[in-house]
Amino acid sequence: MRDPKEHNSPEKQTWSLPKNDYWSTPFAEMLLHHLELFPGASVLDIACGHGTPAFYIAEQVGPEGLVLGVDMHPAQALRCRTTQGSHLPWLSFAQADMRALPLDLEPFDRITGNIAFMFFRPNRFEALKQLTGFLKPGGQLVLTFPSLGTFDSIWQRVDREMASRGLKQEQALLAEYIAERPSAEEVHRWLTELKMERIDVAEWPLEIKSGPGQAFLNHPLLRGGFLDDAYECFEDQVLANEVMDAVADDLESFIPLLAQRCAFSAWRPE
Ligand SMILES: C[S@@+](CC[C@H](N)C(=O)[O-])C[C@H]1O[C@@H](n2cnc3c(N)ncnc32)[C@H](O)[C@@H]1O
Repeated sequence: MRDPKEHNSPEKQTWSLPKNDYWSTPFAEMLLHHLELFPGASVLDIACGHGTPAFYIAEQVGPEGLVLGVDMHPAQALRCRTTQGSHLPWLSFAQADMRALPLDLEPFDRITGNIAFMFFRPNRFEALKQLTGFLKPGGQLVLTFPSLGTFDSIWQRVDREMASRGLKQEQALLAEYIAERPSAEEVHRWLTELKMERIDVAEWPLEIKSGPGQAFLNHPLLRGGFLDDAYECFEDQVLANEVMDAVADDLESFIPLLAQRCAFSAWRPE
């Protein structure tokens, strides 16, 4: 969680990325690596969550710029405003669905979204197309997401456990969940189809550390997200617990746990 006091110094308020966030911050670092900012830029940050990287970007563009962070959940915008207090008055937060932004929104020099693209469901291409319509000609889009391949060693181990128990239906559902995840190749193809320019799609691995057993099953990053997809393959949650407990006790066989950080950058033609 971002604590504004953390960033306070008597001379200057600074808004660095949260140092103790081992998921959002590494993705945001990759996003910022690809983003070309300039003082006075207007930036839309979609799926802004707690404000990573909206606060940092707002500080970079300065008072001549404008930054709007949007999130579907009103509590996120509220929390961002509380963190912001009276700082960075050119930064604002609003509740909005990034797949259906208000059509009267003025176009932006830059659109960013950290760990955002996987939520473009159900039609990711259409949502991407609509979003690029909110870029000024010559503007840059930079989004990140965990791409296909993320935590593959977990899915392979879960699949083996299901196979050893003859759970064919559960295996088929697991394969469906995995195939539904967006890939770097798909993104490249879509951006090309949208006639975007200077397309750059990069993948950098990120290792997540965990202990075995309950530490794995209740890992704050894996549970309430990735592992839930595995549980959802089962009608019988008692069976799900049995399978996942067996997997979790065998952690040594499927480490390292590697996520694929994918960042893509593309420019709207002039
Ligand atoms: C993984 S968090 C990332 C938040 C932040 N960018 C970060 O890096 O910490 C994803 C955020 O996307 C928001 N979200 C999910 N679907 C959305 C949608 N359709 N429109 C806007 N926000 C959405 C969620 O409420 C959540 O705050």
